[in-house]
Amino acid sequence: MSGLTTTLETPTGGKYEQPTGLFINNEWVKGVDGKEFEVYNPANESVTCKVSEATEKDVDIAVAAARKAFEGPWRKETPENRGKLLVKLSELFEKNLDLLASVEALDNGKAYNMAKVDISMCAGTLRYYGGWADKIEGRVTDTTPDTFNYIKKEPVGVCAQIIPWNFPLLMFAWKIAPAIACGCTVVIKTAEQTPLGGLVAANLIKEAGFPPGVINVISGFGKTAGAALASHMDVDKVAFTGSTVTGRSILKAAAGSNLKKVTLELGGKSPNIVFADADIDNAISWVNFGIFFNHGQCCCAGSRIYVQDTIYDKFVEKFKERAQKNVVGDPFAKDTFQGPQVSQLQFDRIMNYIKAGKEAGAKVEIGGNRKGDKGYFIEPTIFSNVTEDMKIMQEEIFGPVCAISKFSTQEEAIRVGNATTYGLAAAVHTKNLNTAIEVSNALKAGTVWVNTYNTLHHQMPFGGYKESGIGRELGEDALSNYLQTKTVSIRLGDALFG
Ligand code: NAI
Ligand code: MG
Repeated sequence: MSGLTTTLETPTGGKYEQPTGLFINNEWVKGVDGKEFEVYNPANESVTCKVSEATEKDVDIAVAAARKAFEGPWRKETPENRGKLLVKLSELFEKNLDLLASVEALDNGKAYNMAKVDISMCAGTLRYYGGWADKIEGRVTDTTPDTFNYIKKEPVGVCAQIIPWNFPLLMFAWKIAPAIACGCTVVIKTAEQTPLGGLVAANLIKEAGFPPGVINVISGFGKTAGAALASHMDVDKVAFTGSTVTGRSILKAAAGSNLKKVTLELGGKSPNIVFADADIDNAISWVNFGIFFNHGQCCCAGSRIYVQDTIYDKFVEKFKERAQKNVVGDPFAKDTFQGPQVSQLQFDRIMNYIKAGKEAGAKVEIGGNRKGDKGYFIEPTIFSNVTEDMKIMQEEIFGPVCAISKFSTQEEAIRVGNATTYGLAAAVHTKNLNTAIEVSNALKAGTVWVNTYNTLHHQMPFGGYKESGIGRELGEDALSNYLQTKTVSIRLGDALFG
């Protein structure tokens, strides 16, 4: 296997063999054109290694492998065995938790301690959908006495899955688990910024015993490999998580090719609303976690913070104190909460938003600068005096930057909360049950948290209203993304028309 692995080392995982090839048909192969690209460590900007780059030709090969598996052995596999394979993979994630978390921290820059939670959540997701595999049922429907009708759920087929870099392995698990439970086969393209975890997971997929071609893992760029998947004539479905701009282009590619089914989990500009009667310390803790967790690189980040006017000044002071305690630094250090942003490009995008906020006249309460001079670290940044028309209040920043503003009435909180084209998540902090329920019901968001934030769970559907996406992931809802319905109608009586 020379040339298709490299020895890497992390402070927590020690030395390990990092696969670098494309994983197609349970084999490690080079790309047809022999191309490779560099993978960077965002904590120190050095090159970690090179991996094979999938081009359109490799996409064709991977899709053909997934098609062959789908029409052949995988179609004949029992639901029970599909479930067993997912459970086995879940166990392998748990067994390799330290290694997988180390690889995530190395590749993405996220704090190792946080990455461990990601991997536990991967295991939970894989096991949960393993449980669903043999519980997918149709029904029998009576129409007339001389007809027997059954409605059957069938796998949609070959699925392309395109994932981002903010939760590389968690997005990997969210995507493959329901697809496999439903009997689909998969070609998954990881993000070019973070290909390493998916490649390590591919070895676990093989170890778990998945037949060749059922899950294919490729590294590559969006404009080439990603676009080729989205417009492929033999891909039945594409599932995507990432930017709204790319989501639109995927929907267009599906429309312009074979009308493959599309689910999209896109951006957000989620409101985090704090009422005067909230437990203020508790609220601050969740507001802080809501925006600064994962360095602000969360689609559901609580980036617009609205605080009721009577507690606003006190809240801002206490929130500043709290945010300044977030430890920013080496992802592998014990106390680190916030590591570097994932790439130079993301770092530049965020710094440009900070500049735009300053130029528009918003007040920097804390932060607003790069931290250190090596690695893509940014200080936790809080803007106040932010008006609704400002770019930093409208656009997804995807970094440790939030805008804080005040409201006076419940009606106003609902209005400003909904004043966005996005609708992924929202939160309300209050001790009043009526306020909590009325505001939750009025907010146009796929998830509303009350007195908490970012508490995702594999049993709970997740996805967006408005321009935050199409479809839901997680929970029972996600199964419908990977199933299609067949109606079978059997005539029992004599011919109707003689
Ligand atoms: P992106 O949406 O361009 O990339 C996400 C994935 O899509 C990657 O795997 C990429 O290779 C692929 N991709 C890119 N262009 C494609 C195309 N034309 N066809 C098919 N696949 C394609 O996001 P990017 O550039 O990494 O980040 C830009 C912004 O997107 C961020 O600043 C953030 O606002 C948002 N974002 C949202 C995420 C979420 O969780 N909803 C995750 C990552 C980014
Ligand atoms: Mg990287």
